[in-house]
Amino acid sequence: MSNEYLDAARPVVEAALDAVMPCPEDPPQRLHHAMHHAVRAGGKRLRPILTLACGEAVAGAAAARQACPPVMAAIELLHTYTLVHDDLPTMDDDDLRRGQPSCHIAFDEATAILTGDALLTLALGTAATCTAAAVRCLAEAAGSHGVVGGQQDDLDAERGRLPDADRAALVERIHRRKTAALIRAACELGAIAVGADPNQRQALAEYGEALGLAFQITDDILDVTATSAELGKTAGKDAARGKLTYVSVHGLDAARQRAEECINAAHKALTDWGPQADHLRAIATAVAQRRH
Ligand code: IPE
Ligand code: IPE
Ligand code: MG
Ligand code: MG
Ligand code: MG
Repeated sequence: MSNEYLDAARPVVEAALDAVMPCPEDPPQRLHHAMHHAVRAGGKRLRPILTLACGEAVAGAAAARQACPPVMAAIELLHTYTLVHDDLPTMDDDDLRRGQPSCHIAFDEATAILTGDALLTLALGTAATCTAAAVRCLAEAAGSHGVVGGQQDDLDAERGRLPDADRAALVERIHRRKTAALIRAACELGAIAVGADPNQRQALAEYGEALGLAFQITDDILDVTATSAELGKTAGKDAARGKLTYVSVHGLDAARQRAEECINAAHKALTDWGPQADHLRAIATAVAQRRH
């Protein structure tokens, strides 16, 4: 996923992470090396870039670059924790992440659990250097009504523990929680960091929610249409594990159409915004076209 803004913002994300990551040589070295392995493997950095772009849309580039770095680091650390735990043998059992061996492969399972715990707590502590509202936003998106709840439903659906469910409603609920909640929070954190008013925050939340749903539908599509080399993670895993996805419930064409509708909804949330939201519009277009 690339456009001019994404490429220019990535170094800002790396600097924000550098400022808060523990020194890898500090004991316990195994844990700190594993944290660096997970965070430094790369990744698109979409969420913290959205945080910055939302801050810029509200307050301009200079103010956003001053205020956003702690919450940018916080959202990327929290996202990385979800990936480390998502790959564990007891969850999706994935060996490849961000083009590298998953954390539990490069280290071991217990270290990967602790690495996730450490990234999550570092994320919350880092958000606390912004405001209490930032911590609450992040914690709500991550918790049992957000990512963790979505992950529970995802596994329950895969393992046949929700047999009577309406599959179309369930897959939408899963995707809103496991993925859209954090992408929405990424946008709200940018608004919070620069002191946006409630209407501005609400519009950016709606943009993030729609973009986040499109992002996960696209993830489901890429799982069946892209290669592991393109993705930096194992392709074809969803069908192999019997996951409930937009593709398994609706088919590829309908999933593509739904992703496009969500991208249109993301653009619509920005109707009242002028050119200061153009980077957010460009990001929505890049998500629609992404190949990894
Ligand atoms: C992967 O997220 C997990 C999903 C929500 C689909 P990304 O595709 O943003 O992963 P990275 O951060 O680029 O590795
Ligand atoms: C992503 O779901 C949601 C997370 C909380 C990590 P997936 O299980 O589809 O993500 P990938 O495909 O492994 O990146
Ligand atoms: Mg998963
Ligand atoms: Mg997975
Ligand atoms: Mg996936």
